[in-house]
Amino acid sequence: MDFNFRIKRTINLQEVSSTQDIAKEIADTVKENGVLITAITQTAGRGRFERQWESKKGGLYFSIVLRPNKRTLPLENLSLKAGRAVACTLKELYGLKTKIKLPNDVLAAYAGTYKKISGILIETASNSNGDLEWLALGIGINTNNIPSKTLNAVSIKQITGKTTDNKKLLENFLANFAKEYISWNIA
Ligand code: BTN
Repeated sequence: MDFNFRIKRTINLQEVSSTQDIAKEIADTVKENGVLITAITQTAGRGRFERQWESKKGGLYFSIVLRPNKRTLPLENLSLKAGRAVACTLKELYGLKTKIKLPNDVLAAYAGTYKKISGILIETASNSNGDLEWLALGIGINTNNIPSKTLNAVSIKQITGKTTDNKKLLENFLANFAKEYISWNIA
């Protein structure tokens, strides 16, 4: 069995409806494991319960198609582990103080309160036996974008005043998430 976490193919796109849509299309057509899809903007970025995920240029938006060995639901644990990897990366690279709001939000300390800096969405498909076939792990991180005032959200730019290198952030996240994923996948 292959318990490793490895990105075998990366697809970088400009504008998409949602990177989750592309991830699903890929998962449904080819049996690949470890496909990463990124986009500069999304016209219909979504969160849990079909909530809108604002996806202005500047933010980091990506999905990963995974075919875990672990085939049983629920997946709350994985969402938490992805959140931990985001939080750990934000601390390592930018010294941000964060907390995880279960099941899928990462909040960052800003102006005496905590605001949402990242959201995680896991969508799945199962076979007729109810076993998990694939999952699409979608993550949005507010980096260089300025979230609309109506959202209780904040970006790295607002907190640090600096421009984030989204590529470096993604690479660091993947390294941190790999450890979490492997431990989840063999548990
Ligand atoms: C949430 O806050 O409920 C989860 C938000 C997840 C947003 C990311 S952005 C990349 C991927 N594509 C989407 O449409 N959603 C996820």
